[in-house]
Amino acid sequence: MKILVVNGANLHLLGIREPEIYGTSSYADLVSLLRADAAENGDTVSFFQSNHEGELADRIAQAYFDGTEGIVINPGAFTHTSVALRDAIASVGIPTVEVHISDVSAREDFRQVSFLRGVCVGTVSGRGFDGYLDAIRLLKGTDRERS
Ligand code: DQA
Repeated sequence: MKILVVNGANLHLLGIREPEIYGTSSYADLVSLLRADAAENGDTVSFFQSNHEGELADRIAQAYFDGTEGIVINPGAFTHTSVALRDAIASVGIPTVEVHISDVSAREDFRQVSFLRGVCVGTVSGRGFDGYLDAIRLLKGTDRERS
């Protein structure tokens, strides 16, 4: 399967940002983990991280043209604000799973709303980096939704 992993605002700071919430492993560690998993399972995986909402929307749109079959997205804070990213996912019609490293349901009120959830085929929250692996399994139809 050709999979695109999109990470939004501040996720390039994994390992540095609030390690008590997001852990001590870096964005590079996340990429390595997912590359190894893809190699093991015969998937093709590409990565995109940006702090800019428009760039994230552009990359999702590009996925329509590059043959991407599934998207895993951790939008970061854009989860709770972005109609544009919701519309981008709805526009391309590519099955998409929303991931959150932390358990957003146990955090602040403003994190309880996800603008993207309704256009995603599943949401995985609070599973750390394993949540991205869960999302890939979900896209491939080999596991059930976790949240
Ligand atoms: C996050 C949760 C969001 O609320 C937050 O803004 C993030 C990361 C997560 O992975 O747990 O940047 O998406």
